[in-house]
Amino acid sequence: MGKDVIVACDFAGKEEVLNFLDKFEGRKPFVKIGMELYYAEGPAIVREIKERGHKIFLDLKLHDIPNTVKKSMKVLSTLGVDITNLHAAGTVRMMEAALEGLTRPDGTRPLLIAVTQLTSTDQESLEQDLWIEKPMADVVMHYASNAAKAGLDGVVCSPLEAEAVHNTCGKSFLTITPGVRFADGDIGDQKRVMTPAQAKEIGSDYIVVGRPITAAPDPVAAYERCVAEFVD
Ligand code: C5P
Repeated sequence: MGKDVIVACDFAGKEEVLNFLDKFEGRKPFVKIGMELYYAEGPAIVREIKERGHKIFLDLKLHDIPNTVKKSMKVLSTLGVDITNLHAAGTVRMMEAALEGLTRPDGTRPLLIAVTQLTSTDQESLEQDLWIEKPMADVVMHYASNAAKAGLDGVVCSPLEAEAVHNTCGKSFLTITPGVRFADGDIGDQKRVMTPAQAKEIGSDYIVVGRPITAAPDPVAAYERCVAEFVD
């Protein structure tokens, strides 16, 4: 899989997401399904979107004891998704167990990506809530290295961190970057943003784009604009 734009389908239910995807007619964007939609509709929505011909990033961010994560990943491996994820904070052992669980009997598996530190966590909450007294950039890079050590395929990170992650973990270690906005667009609640063209420039492998596409007056045109800036 090469560079691609992943559309964050943060909708509350099946009707909303399918109405949205219908707008694309022949086009089949790569879709991110997160907790909201998954908890509302269950695995059936994943299968339905897959059957419509979309690639899927199932963003459930697992974090539990290794045995539980391994068994849960085994279940997720049957859904036919292309990418799924977990929290690197669950430890190297948890990530290794996740990979084992995700690998199907025939040896194939979806790509497995780690969340390092959520972008909603800042230096202050890192120190005061989590009692991690290290600079955020170092923590992110350490967690990315742990993910690489465990054999994962990449990390979700800020576009601003993608270059450093590639330098630390290798060019083929994937960076999936949210926080993307058009130069003339609304930033909303995202703090550190980049345009699709800038994300391409710094070497992101995938961009995750939600509201700039889902809330656009013409979502298909907004999607095409992302593809034109990031992929083409
Ligand atoms: O609407 P917007 O483009 O901000 O959506 C970004 C998507 O990426 C959302 O689904 C959000 O949950 C997700 N995300 C993020 N920052 C992270 C990890 C995931 O914005 N660090």
